[in-house]
Amino acid sequence: MEKLSEMLVVPNSVARSDFHEIIRMIDRSRLERILHHGTKAPSGDNTQPWRFAVKGDTVYVYALPELDNPILNIEARGTMIAIGALVENISIAAQEDGLDTAIDLSHGEDDAVARVHFDERDRSGHPLFHTIEKRHTNRNPYHQIIQPSFFEHLRDIHEGDARALLVTDRHAIETIAHSSVLMEEAALRTKKLHRSFFDSIFWDENKNENGEAGMYIKTMELPPPVQLLFRALNFWPVTATLNRIGFARGAALGNSALYARTGACIAVILTGTTQEDFINAGRCMERAWLTTTAEGLAAQPLAGLLYLAEYVRRTNDPDIASQLRKRILAAQESIEQAVGSKGVVMILRIGLPHRPASARTKRRAPHITYEQ
Ligand SMILES: Cc1cc2nc3c(=O)[nH]c(=O)nc-3n(C[C@H](O)[C@H](O)[C@H](O)COP(=O)(O)O)c2cc1C
Repeated sequence: MEKLSEMLVVPNSVARSDFHEIIRMIDRSRLERILHHGTKAPSGDNTQPWRFAVKGDTVYVYALPELDNPILNIEARGTMIAIGALVENISIAAQEDGLDTAIDLSHGEDDAVARVHFDERDRSGHPLFHTIEKRHTNRNPYHQIIQPSFFEHLRDIHEGDARALLVTDRHAIETIAHSSVLMEEAALRTKKLHRSFFDSIFWDENKNENGEAGMYIKTMELPPPVQLLFRALNFWPVTATLNRIGFARGAALGNSALYARTGACIAVILTGTTQEDFINAGRCMERAWLTTTAEGLAAQPLAGLLYLAEYVRRTNDPDIASQLRKRILAAQESIEQAVGSKGVVMILRIGLPHRPASARTKRRAPHITYEQ
């Protein structure tokens, strides 16, 4: 609720219509606080592919899939996962603020991918609220031991047809690590993927402070000599030349060893493939990630390979060599075998990190329009 002092600033001379406008603006600040927390959600390459319209007590969420990776964002699936995480945050922040939410993910003529309707409730608070600001991606190595009591908290995370599954078997974790890095190898081996990967990276700290979309280099946790090398790798002829002496494979093997330094993995699985299913998958991912954060553990999504496999399956892109295509599809199959389920749409590696993240990725202010 707003503070009484904020409600008392209306002078007697204010006309009745202005008075209502001020009351509405007070409501706006409450809503904007909730949306601010919503946009702390993760998105692929921090693209923040969303905007909002507010009508009365309902927020309409619109997706901006064109901001996401043009190759990997098949059927806007990555965008919808990010929107799901956003909706989950909004729901948690609203409850913290004494509001219930009714969430409608149906297709409508308004083109919104989600409509969130708010209602006053008689209590406030949500146990995961304070983890929204703390949650972030940590790409460092993790310890391989996790307190088994933590796993209890992860049981039963589901939303619609999506659910989170825990993978603790060491061999399965190593398989996931080893298979996921084919994404990095493909990005270094294929001119087209190389371009889209390097186009998403930026070096400027000010851009990060302004909430710019993309991967801020410091969050990638590269050792300093590799950071320097990265500037040169931006040029395809340099990468192509280094590949002749096995650079792409070597880099992938290095990352595989890093990803295996993980306590457990959380896989989000789906039986359906609709837009609503992927939004629900995003809600599950975010709930699992916030729960992980609440336990003082770190997380990193390993999702690129899953999307790349979908791209390869649906297109006959001659830019990706046929041998590499086969390996990408086999890697996806290995991940599903390791998880013990089909329909894996997100993997989070989790664990107690060796060190904190070197930098946090920032957000731009939410884009909100108010409609009558
Ligand atoms: C759908 C989706 C896919 C992602 N894929 C990867 C990935 O493959 N590797 C990775 O390191 N991070 C991945 N991320 C993490 C984002 O890069 C990260 O959430 C974003 O840059 C914002 O940073 P933050 O999580 O620290 O707030 C993914 C996030 C989402 C939502």
